[in-house]
Amino acid sequence: MKENMIRSAWKQGWVLVCAVVLMVSACGEDGSKEEAGELLPPTVDTPTDVAGDQFVLTWSKVTGATKFQIEVAIDEDFSQLVEPYDPWRLNATRFTVTELDYGTTYYVRMRTERDDELSAYSNVVVATTLDEPGPEPTTALKEVATTFAVGMAVQTSRLTGEHHEVLTREFDQITAEWEMKMSVMYPTEGVYDFTRSDQIVEYGEANDIAIHGHALIWHSSTPTWVEDFAGTNEEFEAMVKEYITTVVTRYKGRVRSWDVVNEAFQDGSGQLRNTVFRQKMGDDYIEKCYQWTRDADPDVLIFYNDYNMTTDAAKLKASLDMADDFVARDVPIDGIGFQMHIAYNGPDRATIEGAAKKVTDRDLLLHFSELDIRANPNDNMSSLTEQRAIDQQAKYKEVVEIYNAIPETSKFALTVWGMIDSETWLTDFHGYVDWPLMYNDDFSVKKAHTGFLQGLE
Ligand code: G3I
Repeated sequence: MKENMIRSAWKQGWVLVCAVVLMVSACGEDGSKEEAGELLPPTVDTPTDVAGDQFVLTWSKVTGATKFQIEVAIDEDFSQLVEPYDPWRLNATRFTVTELDYGTTYYVRMRTERDDELSAYSNVVVATTLDEPGPEPTTALKEVATTFAVGMAVQTSRLTGEHHEVLTREFDQITAEWEMKMSVMYPTEGVYDFTRSDQIVEYGEANDIAIHGHALIWHSSTPTWVEDFAGTNEEFEAMVKEYITTVVTRYKGRVRSWDVVNEAFQDGSGQLRNTVFRQKMGDDYIEKCYQWTRDADPDVLIFYNDYNMTTDAAKLKASLDMADDFVARDVPIDGIGFQMHIAYNGPDRATIEGAAKKVTDRDLLLHFSELDIRANPNDNMSSLTEQRAIDQQAKYKEVVEIYNAIPETSKFALTVWGMIDSETWLTDFHGYVDWPLMYNDDFSVKKAHTGFLQGLE
């Protein structure tokens, strides 16, 4: 009797061990749980990237699943399924549900397939698509920005037709994107060419639009003959003085302001770039150029302009230390330009505000001088999605809010670096498509333009 009891207890133990082994082996290598044999549904995450006509679904892996089924309905009883999600079968853990209606609440549930076996239904998640975008407001930016100029980068080939319509309707300041630089105005030693710069200045004067001069000295637009200057340093300095005096005198009382020197400091270190101007004129070449500009036009506003000024602390510090030194020694300087070539997802508000305050805490003007807001900074988009357009709108609004909130005494202008997306310099610079500006290629306003307006409210 006793022996039989021991044998059956031994057998029960083995059965128990096997059951446990079965249980353990049933756990997926990815930790997803399923009871031995039972096929569980996935756990569905809250939908993301909800737009006007689509949203993204993600869900947990299920060991043993051969496919998943997605059901989308417009009622929580799932009696009104939406084709083709009735159900949609796939083998993945992420899917974009598309071809949806604007402003509609959708209910989603899933099941797991294992060959011809089906699991129970998953949890239900809900997504409400965005309302159909109404027409963006077309209020003119300059009509709303009453305390600072709204600027646009221009080129002589873009001063007629729809460019002209938009410029005269929305903007009260312009910056030459490239045609008022030394390489264009002084292409050959002793021979100036003001054809393009005159056209831009005359356009501004004819249309009551202020002109911001950009840029007298920039290592990236220095004519070859200057880079290869064969004379002495003294002759070089005399040449630069004569160039600045000639240009600034020509546009005296016609050009509101100048970026006299652009991008003089290295990235990350705040050290002076070793440009030909520094090499041949000395470290004080900048103040010489600023003084010559002031001597030629007592009223023109003199700026120092650079990029990454909100994120490169060393560059910002070097710029402000220079400005403080100039102010202390009565070397003319009126303002600092932050180029603001940024993205929809950064820099963040606090970073921009913090950097701006370092300028406005000084008796200096602040120019957001070349704003564009990349929608595709990671080169992973082939078109501007509605969601990213909304994200970009929010960033335009934020930047304008920040600028609009600085002290009146520091306000000068907020300039956008281009009009329609296809004209952005970023495409050539980065080598892939982006949509960083405020107007579509048909010159209709984008959500970005709405964001600019919202920033002024
Ligand atoms: O379109 C003309 C073409 O007709 C002509 O035959 C050719 C001859 O070189 O030039 C073409 O123009 C080019 C222009 O971009 C087209 O938009 C110029 O060569 C080229 O130099 C110019 O590049 C400009 C660049 O500065 C250099 O001046 C970009 O437009 C302009 O967006 C860029 O802007 C700079 C700011 O000045 C300083 N901050 C950085 C910013 C981006 O690099």
